[in-house]
Parts: sequence; C-alpha cells; structure tokens
Amino acid sequence: MKNMKNILRVLKRRLKSLTQTKAERRHTLVGPSKLWKMKRDFQIKFLKDFNLKPQHYLLDVGCGTLRGGIPLIDYLENGHYFGIESREEALDEGRKELQEARLEVKNPTLLMSPDISQLIIDQEFDFVWAFSVLIHMSDDILNDALNFVNKHLSAEGVFYANVHIGAGKEGKWEEFPIVSRTFEFYSEACTRNGLTVFDLGPLKNLGHDVSNVKNISNVMKNQDYQQRMLRISKI
Ligand SMILES: C[S@@+](CC[C@H](N)C(=O)[O-])C[C@H]1O[C@@H](n2cnc3c(N)ncnc32)[C@H](O)[C@@H]1O
Repeated sequence: MKNMKNILRVLKRRLKSLTQTKAERRHTLVGPSKLWKMKRDFQIKFLKDFNLKPQHYLLDVGCGTLRGGIPLIDYLENGHYFGIESREEALDEGRKELQEARLEVKNPTLLMSPDISQLIIDQEFDFVWAFSVLIHMSDDILNDALNFVNKHLSAEGVFYANVHIGAGKEGKWEEFPIVSRTFEFYSEACTRNGLTVFDLGPLKNLGHDVSNVKNISNVMKNQDYQQRMLRISKI
C-alpha cells in the first residue's frame, strides 16, 4: 500500500513536470513550483533587512535545492555560506543549481546531514537560517537542531526560522511531518538548549505575501498565512 502511494506520487510528479520550467521542476523538490522565485527573493531580502552583511558567516539548515541559497552565496564573501541538507536528491539538485549559476567560485560548503546530532562543523556562525525547515522537524530532531545551533552560534549571532504557531492538525510533506506548535513549546525547547526566542510576527508582515500569487490553492495560501518568524539567540 505504501509502495503504491509512492509510485502514484512519483507518477503524478512526472506528469506535472511535463508542463513545468526547468527551475520549477528542480525547486518542486522543496515546495510549490509556482512559488520558488517569490520564496528565493524573500529569503535574501529578509536577511539583508535583518542586517546580514557579506562578511558574515551563515549556516542554511535544510538548504535543499539552494532555492534560497543561490542569492545568499552570491552576496556573501567567498567561503562564508554553509548549507546542510538531509536528502541527497535535493542536495544533488542544489549542486547543479550552483554550477548553473556559476557560483562554485564562491566556495560554499554543502554538506549532507542525515542526522544533525552527528554533524561536526568547525565554524561559528553569525547567522543561522532555517526557512521552512523547523515545520518539518519532529520534536526530537528540533531538540538536536537547537543543540547544534547553540554550539555553533557566535555570542552575538542570531538564528531565524519560520514555524507554524498553534495546535493545528499534523500533516505530512514528502517523508517529513508538518508540525504546528505553541510559542511556549518553542520557548521551552530553546531554554533547554541555552537559547532564547522572540516572535517577529507573521511572515506575511515581513514581506512573504502569497495573496497575489496566481495558480496556488487557498489551502496552500492558508498554510502560508499561519507561519511566523522566530528570532533565536543565546541566553
Ligand atoms: C521546505 S524545504 C526548504 C528548503 C530551503 N530552506 C528553501 O527554502 O529553499 C525543507 C528542506 O529541509 C530539509 N530538511 C528537513 N529536515 C532536515 C534536517 N533534520 N536536517 C537537514 N535538512 C532537513 C528537507 O530535506 C528539505 O530540503
């Protein structure tokens, strides 16, 4: 039954891909194909608005196909972008994206990380970024991720991540859950890991607005509207 569902999912994706552009096909691995450009533009704009400078070191947790990573690699100084990803398929597409954007010369570090609790990176970061990633983490993995952030964030560093706040129904995306948790839940998880959290508000108020995007369903729009951005730093 599970196999059948997987086969159907792959078939559906293949059929859909016949009408998609190359970029849409690639970034469909990390989200809705029609939204990839908006989500790319949002990420660099948000981080620049929140004071990301070329000399900063940035870790992109769940970098996927480099939908968000490409403009960041372009903007940051040589070697200052680090991306980690748990799915080989997505990271492979990210590597192709990097090559096609002719940005290999910027020497980003792209690492496969199936288990963040086992990951070792010899670098402190000014910025840690996880766009649409915490919403796909089980509570145990979230704890491991926060522990990793605490160990790798510089004293003045900041970790920005969007989440679904609320006690909504759990869903599924690819092999991941879609989780919705209260602000208190994130606050306690941060405290346990030597971190403190502040709610910056709805993504929509921060420039991530899907209201004018055509060809996406209201369900998808509503899911996007529920998202909020957290700013996490060391206690
Ligand atoms: C919705 S996609 C977003 C990709 C990218 N951040 C962007 O916005 O373009 C979420 C990504 O996080 C990755 N991911 C999920 N859990 C992860 C984990 N524990 N460690 C590393 N990557 C993870 C998924 O494989 C997926 O590529």
